[in-house]
Formats: sequence, structure tokens, C-alpha cells
Amino acid sequence: MKICKFETVLELSQWTADFICKSAEVCIKEKGFFTIVFSGGSSPSKLYSLLSTYEYASRMNWGKTYIFWSDERFVEHEDDNSNYKLAYEQFLSKASIRESHVFPIPVSGTPAESAELYEEQIKKFFKKKTLCSPDTTPVFDIVLLGMGGDGHIASLFPKSPALDEKQKLVVAVKAPLYAPSRDRISLTFKLINNAKDIIMLIPGKEKQKLIKQLASGVGNIKIPAQMVRNTDNTYLLIDNDYS
Ligand code: 6PG
Repeated sequence: MKICKFETVLELSQWTADFICKSAEVCIKEKGFFTIVFSGGSSPSKLYSLLSTYEYASRMNWGKTYIFWSDERFVEHEDDNSNYKLAYEQFLSKASIRESHVFPIPVSGTPAESAELYEEQIKKFFKKKTLCSPDTTPVFDIVLLGMGGDGHIASLFPKSPALDEKQKLVVAVKAPLYAPSRDRISLTFKLINNAKDIIMLIPGKEKQKLIKQLASGVGNIKIPAQMVRNTDNTYLLIDNDYS
């Protein structure tokens, strides 16, 4: 895991936006398309607004870029708790990216039905793009992640049976009582850890105790964030509020 420390959340977000632009350029040159998984929560908010600015948007080939989500609260996409809504307001509403290139997590029917539907959509996308077989685990080019105050990643919370899911790529989960929106849909670690690059954006000081645990790398798994694979293309981004 590469730990990158920045003075401010703006610098952290600028570094990430630049990383995304560079990765997209390489991926599109190599295979003709680029996939990125947006995380939920507020940490990526500055990044999303940067991606809609000319400085970064002009470097991106949105016609060959495809956007997915790591997880979603099971609420309408217009709901203030919706992860899609945050990305829409900060980025999608200002970007020139076609709707067919954006894959919000469905929030219709039951949570289980939506999880199944999203898994089908992901598999169908990658089958079309890479001709991979249905049982091949797709490889997203970049997965963005935040980390909750309890060390959760996406909507994979401590002690959740979803942490050990080995077959499914997307699951319906019940978040703990303290979390906003209990019904959630989340990618599993089987899919998250199969990405080319993982970027964990964890600005601010309120999670520094957990970041120490996370940065320690080895040792017994205490928080879900420690189940993110510990490889050279996993980036842990923190800012100076973390001393
Ligand atoms: C969610 C998110 C979650 C988020 C962390 C960090 O739906 O809750 O996907 O995993 O990334 O809770 O949230 P903040 O960035 O707001 O601290």
C-alpha cells in the first residue's frame, strides 16, 4: 500500500484527479475504454467537482469513460442520502458524459433484487467490452473508496457477513443502526480487490486512529478497511489534518 500525504484535501483531490486523467489516457490507448468506480460519502466531493472543471474535464475522453459506484444507500437517487446524488450535483450535472456511460446502482424493487441487477449490469458491460466469460471477475481500472468512522469500506461494515462473500460481486446489506440508511447495496471485496488501482481517500483528522491501524498493514484484521488488498497499486491518501 502506498501512503500519500497531502497538505490539504484540495491537494489530495488534485492529485487524484490527475491520477484519473493519466490512467484514463493509458487505458483508452491500451484497450479503448476506461472504467472508474465512484465511492460514496463526502470525502470525494472536492474531487468530483474538480473533474467537472475545464482543467481536468478537457483531459478526459468521456466518450470512452464509464462510471460505476462502490455502494449506494437504498433510497431514491434524489434523496440527500444518495451517493449518486452527491456525484450528480458535484460532477455529472456539469460533465459532458452520456447517460449510457453512467451506471448508478439501481434502487428499485428489493435491495436483493437491486444488488442482483447491478451485478448483471456490471457483468454484461464487461462481457461486451472484453468478451470475458460470465464467471470472470471484472477488472475495474480505478476503484475509489472512502472509509467510515468504524472502518467500513463501501457499505461493508464491521462484523457483516458480506465481508466474507466469495461468490457474489454485489450484495444487499443491512448497515448498523448508527449508519444513515440501513438498507444498502455494496460491491464485495471479491470485486473491489480485483481492480487495477484502488485509491482510498481519507482526508481529515477524525479517522487518524483507524488510519494508523490501516497503515500498519499486516496483523490481525480489526476493521473492514484492512481487507482492502495491500499491494503497490493501492493508494492511501491522507492530508495534514492527520498528524
Ligand atoms: C457510504 C460510503 C462510505 C463512505 C465512508 C466515508 O455510503 O457511506 O460509501 O463507505 O465512503 O462512510 O464517508 P465520508 O467520506 O463522508 O467520511
